[in-house]
Amino acid sequence: MRFPGFFGGVTRRKSAGDWSEISSLNYGHKSSLCTRGVPWVGAVCFARKQRRRPAVSVGIQGSTLEVKGVGKSYEVVRDSKVPPVLTEVLQPVDVLARPGELVSIVGPSGCGKSTLFSIVAGLEAPSVGTIEIDGADVTGTTGHVGYMLQKDMLLPWRSILDNVILGLEVRGVARADALAAARPLLKEYGLGDYEAARPAQLSGGMRQRAALLRTLLFNRPIMLLDEPFGALDAQTRLQMQIWLLEVQATFMKSIVFVTHDIDEAVLLSDRIYVMWGRPGSVVQEIEIDLPKPRGVEVTTTPAFAEYKEQVRSILMRKKEEVSL
Ligand SMILES: Nc1ncnc2c1ncn2[C@@H]1O[C@H](COP(=O)(O)OP(=O)(O)O)[C@@H](O)[C@H]1O
Ligand SMILES: [Mg+2]
Repeated sequence: MRFPGFFGGVTRRKSAGDWSEISSLNYGHKSSLCTRGVPWVGAVCFARKQRRRPAVSVGIQGSTLEVKGVGKSYEVVRDSKVPPVLTEVLQPVDVLARPGELVSIVGPSGCGKSTLFSIVAGLEAPSVGTIEIDGADVTGTTGHVGYMLQKDMLLPWRSILDNVILGLEVRGVARADALAAARPLLKEYGLGDYEAARPAQLSGGMRQRAALLRTLLFNRPIMLLDEPFGALDAQTRLQMQIWLLEVQATFMKSIVFVTHDIDEAVLLSDRIYVMWGRPGSVVQEIEIDLPKPRGVEVTTTPAFAEYKEQVRSILMRKKEEVSL
């Protein structure tokens, strides 16, 4: 795992989580060192303060993400008396997201979707293959993507505003600049009246919106969303999907979206990668050629139903093959 010491005690799934969250903890750790008056650390901190702080912008548009032949094996301990066994959890997969595209990965639990995200985010190294962004090899390096999990990962003691600017704080952006960037976004996307509220005071949908805005403000060209609406009720979920389509039409990030929900994948995606198996692999790639901008009305069209059926039948066929 890439995060030593301070993160040593957390589980893999947590540590592979929201990148801005992880960075913020790391940053907090460094800050606390500064206040202890350790001379050389103090000097480093002083030098840092002298450096020009990065400006805030929220407008970085999407990049081309290419996952090329990425596979992963882990050393798994099955029995303490025998050496660990190298176990493949992800067969080599190719995934492409062009600037402004939203591509979905649909597949059952355990087929390696989150593992793939950890590799794309640079939190884990692949066993084979490379991650390229705009043609540059970024395999194993962090900081290129915004990463959001199903669990909102908002810090309960911070206000919504302070949660949303977390990623910017991590990057050393001045608080006033971070607030100036965050406030219009909160207002525009329906959270303007909840700036001072704590996460517990918000509905599930609102918390997910705040988490998504935080990922957006982190302002990376690529966003990885791992089942972000998985815990929401059907009605809220649909509202959030439409909301995400609006956000995406404005910011034109490149988004990779993991979901179990076939309707959600068809509504949101330019392309769907259907994954299956243990070790998982991409068994089908489907271009979703539905008109844009998309709204809820598209869900009642015959074309929408056909795409849904196409994905469903692939997954059903795979399930039957296993049970034969
Ligand atoms: N650190 C690890 N060591 C060994 N096996 C792991 C590790 N992380 C994940 N796995 C295994 O990899 C497989 C894929 O996990 P995951 O990527 O979380 O799947 P998904 O997100 O599709 O549900 C699972 O069988 C899981 O148990
Ligand atoms: Mg997962």
